Amino acid sequence: MSKTTIRDWTQIYAIYGLDQWQTLLFLLFHALLFTVLSILYLIYFDPIRGFFESILTVNAGGVPVGTARFAAGFTGSVTALSAVCLFFAAANFFYSAVPLHHDMALRMVSAVNDWSTVKQALDLGCGRGILLNAVATQLKKEGSSGRIVGLDRSKAKTLRTLRTAKLEGVGEYVTCKEGDVRRLPFGDNCFDVVVSGVFVHTVGKEHGHRTVEAAAERMRVVGEVVRVLKPGGVGVVWDLVHVPEYARRLQELKMEEIRVSEPVTAFMVSSHIVTFRKPSQHVVGPGGEVRLEWRC
Ligand SMILES: C[S@@+](CC[C@H](N)C(=O)[O-])C[C@H]1O[C@@H](n2cnc3c(N)ncnc32)[C@H](O)[C@@H]1O
Repeated sequence: MSKTTIRDWTQIYAIYGLDQWQTLLFLLFHALLFTVLSILYLIYFDPIRGFFESILTVNAGGVPVGTARFAAGFTGSVTALSAVCLFFAAANFFYSAVPLHHDMALRMVSAVNDWSTVKQALDLGCGRGILLNAVATQLKKEGSSGRIVGLDRSKAKTLRTLRTAKLEGVGEYVTCKEGDVRRLPFGDNCFDVVVSGVFVHTVGKEHGHRTVEAAAERMRVVGEVVRVLKPGGVGVVWDLVHVPEYARRLQELKMEEIRVSEPVTAFMVSSHIVTFRKPSQHVVGPGGEVRLEWRC
């Protein structure tokens, strides 16, 4: 049985809350607006049909009988359908941001065979810390001396991560650092495991998601992940839409055991987890130990 079924979403929500709650409010507001409009269509169907009749008569001269009724019925149906879609989108957004996010974090943790040997792990774009704390919980379970570093460009987010780590009882396993994922502030070959959850697709979005520039930024992040992994280290990335692109780049970079999961719908689009291993014979740079002197 997965941990999510034991730990219900209210507990997860109580600790992590919701990122981008404005999006949820936006969707709910419009869902309610379209619901009210649909009800008004039902109550005032005849006056609305009369309104369409007058418009069609003015603009098109005489209109066939039933055209105004069809126009009123059609727009009313579209309005009702829009309300349903918006409620669905709001529910899917909430589900993806809370219970699914937690479930995927656990799946990502289980993608690494042996946590007992992990000394240093890194979470890119750690946000609220759902994934980071899932890793820290695993390290604690193993009685490991390993630690995880959360990297985020926002100071507020790193502080929030440290708070959620304390609430989860894994504070001593977690360190945070502020920085930009495009130029990771770590030497080569530092980490046994690098993870990242629903983050890489946001890098370069200022250029637009589908642009060559944004794709180049994402590829740069993939390159940075490979650079900071130790030879033999494992990368686990869950992301929306672009994962096949990451897998191709990892192949070009000669990574081993690249596996892309079945698609999972998250935030109303397709998402995948990609896992890979950096070959053991990869050249080891002068990176050495990662010092935990970045505690926020
Ligand atoms: C959707 S959240 C990630 C959620 C997180 N992985 C989790 O499991 O809870 C994305 C995070 O990436 C951070 N971020 C965005 N661009 C970044 C960048 N260029 N470098 C580092 N962090 C970045 C944001 O501040 C935000 O906290």
